[in-house]
Amino acid sequence: MTEIEWWDYDDAGELAEAIAGDIQFVIESAIDARGSAVIALAGGKTPFPAYEKLAQAKLDWKRVTIVPGDERIVPLGDPLSNVTQLGKLFIPKGARVIPIVPKQTEDYKAAGRSADALMQDLHWPLDLCLLGVGGDGHTASIFPGPDFDEALNGPKERRMLGVMPDPLPPEAPVARVSLSRAAIASARALMIAVTGQAKRDVIEKAIDQGPSSPYPIGRVLADVELPVDIHWAP
Ligand code: 6PG
Repeated sequence: MTEIEWWDYDDAGELAEAIAGDIQFVIESAIDARGSAVIALAGGKTPFPAYEKLAQAKLDWKRVTIVPGDERIVPLGDPLSNVTQLGKLFIPKGARVIPIVPKQTEDYKAAGRSADALMQDLHWPLDLCLLGVGGDGHTASIFPGPDFDEALNGPKERRMLGVMPDPLPPEAPVARVSLSRAAIASARALMIAVTGQAKRDVIEKAIDQGPSSPYPIGRVLADVELPVDIHWAP
């Protein structure tokens, strides 16, 4: 049974401060222990205030590698591109930010294989995986659709794969690449950043449902052995 701890904050500002502090602690600990840190950060909007605060931290950034936990298959520079947003914040600090989808392609499975090859070159497991959760219970880009089972039950050594959500999510109606459940569950630290009661209700229900949950976040968390911190604000 996954050990899950909710950390509740009064507002999004407090949430951002706390998450930035926790990520900084993970990075510093990884550098102390292994000389470098490799972290996967969620896309979407919720965690960005935390990333902005994290970017102000005094860290040995040249020892930090950041990958998007998932990426929309769009050109670099596209407003939907997660790595573009992360790069703007962290490349000027000297961190290595990896474009796991270096160019748009119609072949999302090939994009997934290419992203996986990039991930295979990184020290593993991830020192941190920070996830967001959609209102439909998706996390990273693990969505219902033709690739759902592969994302959840593919080969353990698979770190990234191509995903075609079905239905396409309205906020970013494109194919994606995503960390697999195995990659997420293997991280040394796993955090979730969410706001709003509706998402909290979905996550609590998904946790109760466990391995048979229809929600991707429920299926992912059911596989995690390490404690999971869920940072939440109304
Ligand atoms: C993505 C994200 C995705 C995101 C959730 C929540 O690329 O879409 O990684 O998993 O975390 O959709 O997004 P918000 O924080 O914007 O609600």
